[in-house]
Amino acid sequence: MGSQENYRWALGQIRKKVKDHINIVSTLANSAAILKERFPDFFWVGFYFFKNDHLLLGPFQGPPACVRLSLDKGVCADSAVNKRSIVVPDVHKYPGHVPCDSRSNSEIVVPLFNKNGELKAVLDVDSKNFDDFNNIDRENLEKVAELLKPVWE
Ligand code: SME
Repeated sequence: MGSQENYRWALGQIRKKVKDHINIVSTLANSAAILKERFPDFFWVGFYFFKNDHLLLGPFQGPPACVRLSLDKGVCADSAVNKRSIVVPDVHKYPGHVPCDSRSNSEIVVPLFNKNGELKAVLDVDSKNFDDFNNIDRENLEKVAELLKPVWE
């Protein structure tokens, strides 16, 4: 669970990376690192690129993860298909949840759009704690998505 103060710091750092943006992988990798470093309870932080019929693993911090996610099941897929953020207090109770690492117990996924409103990726954060994400996390991770808007071609 992130505090407003930590999010303020992280958003400031990500804003600087976006200002200096030259490459999508570099900027997303640093954004994931900033979040993972500032929030030690975040067990996995990463991006999945939207590829029309699947989601493809992008820059992340944490243990190795599933490379390809189909759009018919899972939290990331539901977020991408419905174009909305999803907070999951207990992943074991989420129908269709895709377990990339059995240590994950709660999760939040936020969709990322370009300036034209087209879906480009999702940002996924996992925690070993149950019920680790609330509205503060959702609002601030949506702000991250907003900050990253200019980096999509
Ligand atoms: N749990 C996700 C898959 C991605 S991993 O958590 C990194 C899902 O259900 O879509």
